[in-house]
Amino acid sequence: MKILVTGANGQLGKALRQLEERYPQHSFRFLSREDLPIHHFELVRNFFKADTPDVCINAAAYTAVDRAETERELAFQVNAEAVGVLAAVCRAHGTRFIHVSTDYVFNGSSDRPYREDDPTGPLTVYGESKLEGERQAMELNPDSIIIRTSWVYHETGKNFVKTIIRLLREKPYIGVVNDQIGAPTYAGDLAACIMKVAEAEKSVPGIYHFSNQGEISWYDFAVEIARLIGSTTEVRAISTPEFITPAQRPAYSVLDKRKIVETYGIELRSWQRSLEHCIRAIDQAH
Ligand SMILES: NC(=O)c1ccc[n+]([C@@H]2O[C@H](COP(=O)([O-])OP(=O)(O)OC[C@H]3O[C@@H](n4cnc5c(N)ncnc54)[C@H](OP(=O)(O)O)[C@@H]3O)[C@@H](O)[C@H]2O)c1
Repeated sequence: MKILVTGANGQLGKALRQLEERYPQHSFRFLSREDLPIHHFELVRNFFKADTPDVCINAAAYTAVDRAETERELAFQVNAEAVGVLAAVCRAHGTRFIHVSTDYVFNGSSDRPYREDDPTGPLTVYGESKLEGERQAMELNPDSIIIRTSWVYHETGKNFVKTIIRLLREKPYIGVVNDQIGAPTYAGDLAACIMKVAEAEKSVPGIYHFSNQGEISWYDFAVEIARLIGSTTEVRAISTPEFITPAQRPAYSVLDKRKIVETYGIELRSWQRSLEHCIRAIDQAH
């Protein structure tokens, strides 16, 4: 199969690149923002005309959650309109379209893991733009496969894990919020999940949820990171009002993953195992 990956320099894009050698039977095309800016619709249409892929994995997104509050137009252009165009182009060319969305489409008031058909209610511009991207994808290409995920990290990216490691090394103590509950996702696991969906003989369109297993707070996550790197810096639990950000995060955003497990036979790893794996990879890079 010919597999196109957009946004190939992001965390998910790089995690997919790392998997390439495990799939010698496929031919991958990894395109960064510079290679194919997905909000330049004519470029996207022309690319598909010249070199039609069998599968398109959209790893491109506007992911600056706080900045999106003041860059609404750009967030919607990349996360919504461009997704609609990609979905439509995939439909026109018979390409399987796999898109990635977010737990931030929910408002966080649930007391159990979110299922795919639970009511959405984004609290932020980023969440709204991603939800609109889901809507446009399904409307313009009902064969789309959309995988919502949460708290993504990878050894190559700018993310919570790497920020906490740096702060643990620099500060006498750190404060981390203990009242936002979610589930981390190692980008390598998400990439493997997406490849399984890409290769599935039968494509079952729709929305799916994927993350690592478990339910934790950012504080729990930071404590485990500290333990794994052998840091003695104190990690203090703080509450959301003590850590004000421009965009409000959902208090609870754990995703129920049964649908993707049952439909595509995806195996889930615990968040601790995946975190250990990533920290080893960060160590090796130094
Ligand atoms: N990160 C998270 O915690 C998280 C949580 C839930 C869901 N997700 C979703 O998971 C997916 C992958 O996220 P990620 O963590 O891999 O994000 P990421 O590291 O921010 O990567 C996104 C990539 O998209 C590129 N991009 C931005 N605008 C583009 C455009 N107009 N055309 C083409 N490429 C463009 C970016 O390029 P530049 O580097 O040049 O800006 C970047 O390389 C996204 O759909 C995201 O919304 C992420």
